[in-house]
Amino acid sequence: MAPIDPHSFTDSSHPLTTHLALSLYLDFNTSIIHGSALLTLSSAFSGELSLDTRCISIHMFLDPLTLEPLPYRVSTTPDRIRGTEVVVVLSGQSSLLIVYSTSPSASALQWLSPLQTFSKLHPYVYTQCQAIHARSIFPCQDTPAARIRYDVVMNIPNSLSAVMSARHVRRRLAVPEEAKHLEAGSLGPSLWCGEDRVVEEFAMEQPIPPYLFAFAVGELGFREVGPRTRVYTESAAVEVLDAAALEFAGTEDMIKQGEKLFGDYEWERFDLLVLPPSFPYGGMENPRMVFLTPTVIKGDATGAQVVAHELAHSWTGNLITNINNEHFWLNEGFTTYAERRIVEVVQGADRATLNIGIGWRGLTDEMERFKDNLECTKLWNKQEGVDPDDVYSQVPYEKGFQFVLRIERQIGRTAFDEFLKKYIATFKFKSIDTSTFLEFLKANIPGIEKEINLQLWTEGVGIPEDAYEPVSTIYTKIISLAKEFKEGRMPSEDDVAEWNGQEWELYLENLPKSCEPSQVMALDKRYRLAESKDYEVKVSFLQLAVASKCREYHGEVKKTLKEVGRMKYLRPLFTALAQAGGTEEKQLAKQVFAEARETYHPIAQGVVESILSKYI
Ligand code: BES
Ligand code: ZN
Repeated sequence: MAPIDPHSFTDSSHPLTTHLALSLYLDFNTSIIHGSALLTLSSAFSGELSLDTRCISIHMFLDPLTLEPLPYRVSTTPDRIRGTEVVVVLSGQSSLLIVYSTSPSASALQWLSPLQTFSKLHPYVYTQCQAIHARSIFPCQDTPAARIRYDVVMNIPNSLSAVMSARHVRRRLAVPEEAKHLEAGSLGPSLWCGEDRVVEEFAMEQPIPPYLFAFAVGELGFREVGPRTRVYTESAAVEVLDAAALEFAGTEDMIKQGEKLFGDYEWERFDLLVLPPSFPYGGMENPRMVFLTPTVIKGDATGAQVVAHELAHSWTGNLITNINNEHFWLNEGFTTYAERRIVEVVQGADRATLNIGIGWRGLTDEMERFKDNLECTKLWNKQEGVDPDDVYSQVPYEKGFQFVLRIERQIGRTAFDEFLKKYIATFKFKSIDTSTFLEFLKANIPGIEKEINLQLWTEGVGIPEDAYEPVSTIYTKIISLAKEFKEGRMPSEDDVAEWNGQEWELYLENLPKSCEPSQVMALDKRYRLAESKDYEVKVSFLQLAVASKCREYHGEVKKTLKEVGRMKYLRPLFTALAQAGGTEEKQLAKQVFAEARETYHPIAQGVVESILSKYI
């Protein structure tokens, strides 16, 4: 008996789930889902089988063939990170049915009241399951080692529609028969078949890790932007939809480019869902339907870059998946590399180099952040007792990218491209660890271990010396201008004439962490950075302003923290406030969090909470 994943109760001696059939009744009045989950295992099993749950009430377990109840027990001591273990006792079954309800505080779900939506008229709910939140929507073996196919029958108000990271089968009226198991959870056929209800059916035919389960329900509209791509937003958000359709018009070209580099696109559709501003990430690679923050739509190249990244996951992450979060770099490092290969083709080598430069800066900053926690600077890192949301960082992305690039530089592009295609074809629909990758690398590139210190790269701390800091005229120029700021020189109008968001971002990220307040204000007076519509620029500037104790900007900081829930912005701003040292800053952090908390996704709430509890 041994756990197969530090973040799951799944045991190595248990058969894994291969299929999941869910019936879900979404109750927007209580923010609860009443559900049944039929789990099919890879083989029949006798004995105690462990499942992961978080904040789920179990009503009963049934043998789906005999409809006899199965004995089970729910742990009375929930684990802070893994949640609550539920053990069911099987005697030779290869499937089991669970009747359950979720909790309004389910960590994967954000329920938005009508007032929190664009239209102000209809409620909205969406999921975010990575890394370990699927267990708050349905009991499961919530580890990417278990790949499942699934079917979903979702009962929702008929004024709304549902989308999923799965094939849409049909929208139809509810049938009383379907509610029979849910009665154990006090949900009868009359509610299931209510006049104002409708059922949406979905099917996911390819095996996916549970963290890629995703849905959103709201009053949604869409526009076609390519032969396999629609963009979805709230239907009332016409301007957002218009802007998104423009921003993502080049998606089909990127898919074709991805196919050229990595092999066939295996997921049929590549739709994009633009979520409300509280979405906690830039993008999430849910298969067939990528989820995006509206903050990436700003009329420049960066929206397409986030799409390139999520698209690249279609191969690296969704086809080949990290076996658990200790090998997360296999997902994000390869994807960052793949993203930049796509960007290089569709936006040019200069753009790609600038991105590498921004990433390099991010990576060196993380080394500072983790100087007392060196484990987090390793690609393959131990995560026993570690919450993935707390240690989320640029390391798996940028050190992972650097490692992949190091191999490319060693063997040359042509050989590397061939290697990549073979890697993907060999491990598609599999979940693997770092050793499996290294074995494959050594087997296919004989002698590579003599050229590159593979162990240092994957298990060592810090940034290896043979990592690559990019060189390009614009990158070097911006770095030297940032250095000059310390000596009191501000970039001139001529210097910045050609800059857009990313150049500013690189510049600001390379300034000292705090500066003379007068200098910071002079920079803003000249270039109006605090008012930038580009959140990357605005937040980088505000972070500098807070750290430099320019209190004039506290109003803008507060406004920003109340209008977006993307953690990329919440993290640095709350950290800057908490670390600035002044009581005024700490006070502001506490006050804003108290006011904005309910508008954040539960994952973001947890992350901000842990920042505040660390410093305040
Ligand atoms: N898979 C990640 C998002 C994620 C990571 C969610 C870990 C939960 C846990 C996604 O592919 C991603 O990396 N998004 C980035 C955007 C990207 C362009 C680097 C983001 O959200 O900032
Ligand atoms: Zn990613």
